[in-house]
Amino acid sequence: MPPAKNSSLVADLEKVLIDATEIDQRLQALGQEISECYQDKELTVISVINGAIIFTADLIRQIKIPLMLESLRVSSYQNSCAPQTAPALFDAVTLELKGAHVLIIDDILDSGRTLSAVMQHLQSKQPASLKTCVLLDKMCRRDCPLTADFVGFKIPDAFVVGYGLDYAQRYRQLPCIGILKPECYQAPSAKQDSN
Ligand code: IMP
Ligand code: MG
Repeated sequence: MPPAKNSSLVADLEKVLIDATEIDQRLQALGQEISECYQDKELTVISVINGAIIFTADLIRQIKIPLMLESLRVSSYQNSCAPQTAPALFDAVTLELKGAHVLIIDDILDSGRTLSAVMQHLQSKQPASLKTCVLLDKMCRRDCPLTADFVGFKIPDAFVVGYGLDYAQRYRQLPCIGILKPECYQAPSAKQDSN
C-alpha cells in the first residue's frame, strides 16, 4: 500500500480523540499554569524532537515569562508502533544548564523510559530545577515510576498520531490527535524514527 496522501490523512483515523479546538484551549490553560509556576524566573525549555515540535511551538507562545529554547533528539521506535530499542539520546544542547530552570517538553508519556532517560541525562548537568511537561499521558502503560509535572491530556491505551505524533514519521501534521485505522499500519520506506 503506498503512503497516505495528505488529503486522506484524517480519513486514516479510526477515531479523533482530541480535536484542534480542544488542543488550543488546553494549551492556553497549560501556558498559564507554567507561567505562574515559574513567575520571576527565566525558563530553559528543552523540546524532545521530533514528536514535541508542534506542541512546543504552540505551547511556548502561551507562556508569558522569558524563556530560552533548545531541543534534544531521542529515538527508539524505528518505524514501529512499539519501541524497538532503548531510547538513544542525541544531545546538541549548547545552552548552559547548570543553575537553570529546565522544563522538558515531550509529546507523550507512555512507559516512561524516554523521559526517565532524558531526565537522568539532564540532571547530570546540575540544573537549579528540572520539571517535565507532556501533551499526552498514557498512565496505564507506565513501567518507570514517573509522573509529569504538567500534563495536557490523559488518554487511554491506544497508539495515537497527529499534532506531532507519528507512525513511521507520518501523520505528524494532522491538527488533531486520533487513533489510526489498523489497516494503515504498514511497512513504510522511511528508515529511521525519532520520537
Ligand atoms: P515511552 O518511552 O514508552 O514513555 O515512550 C515515549 C515516546 O514513545 C514518545 O516520545 C513517542 O515518540 C513514542 N510514543 C509512545 N506512544 C506513542 C503513541 O501512541 N503514538 C506515537 N508515538 C508514541
Ligand atoms: Mg515517534
